[in-house]
Amino acid sequence: MLLLEAVARHCPGRMVQIFATDVEEAGLAQARSGVYPLSVMHDVSPERQKRFFTRVDDFQFQVKKELRDTITFARQNVLADPPFSKLDLISCRNLLIYLNPDAQRNVIHLFHFALNSGGLLILGTAESVGAAEKNLRRYPSAGGSFGGSARHAVPAERQGSNREGPTGGDCSVNVPAASGFP
Ligand SMILES: C[S@@+](CC[C@H](N)C(=O)[O-])C[C@H]1O[C@@H](n2cnc3c(N)ncnc32)[C@H](O)[C@@H]1O
Repeated sequence: MLLLEAVARHCPGRMVQIFATDVEEAGLAQARSGVYPLSVMHDVSPERQKRFFTRVDDFQFQVKKELRDTITFARQNVLADPPFSKLDLISCRNLLIYLNPDAQRNVIHLFHFALNSGGLLILGTAESVGAAEKNLRRYPSAGGSFGGSARHAVPAERQGSNREGPTGGDCSVNVPAASGFP
């Protein structure tokens, strides 16, 4: 929702493609269905409910096709399967904390490889890029592109002339902290 809104505002006409991956098929199936209980709608503004959800019954809402069509769900084991590439943003929160240091290093290395120039990596609050600090730097939180409590990193050797943000530097998308980026 936030990406579609931000892209419409800052780079109209730009397509958004999201790869939503997990190693667990059951979780993917649930996410793919896009069905949420009524209770979570307390955290969704009436405008977003109207634009992005349809009511299934008295107890459930479903994400509309416009939003579901931007997302490709796929099973992926980040420790074993081939990585994606040319990504503008990777959000991987609360996975690294369950991995041993060697596995964490490998995954961070893959993420670094997978990101486009100027791309962003978003980790959970208890996670860090560890020894990869030399390749990935913390994105400034104050006035930074993304809010919330996540930590942010961007490939250092790719900064320099290309600090405008994701999408190759010609279109920067800012999501305000208050919007609660997941
Ligand atoms: C603690 S949950 C975090 C979910 C979500 N990002 C959040 O912050 O609420 C960790 C997720 O990582 C997935 N996972 C665990 N090992 C994985 C692996 N090797 N490759 C891909 N996903 C994995 C689990 O199935 C689970 O959905």
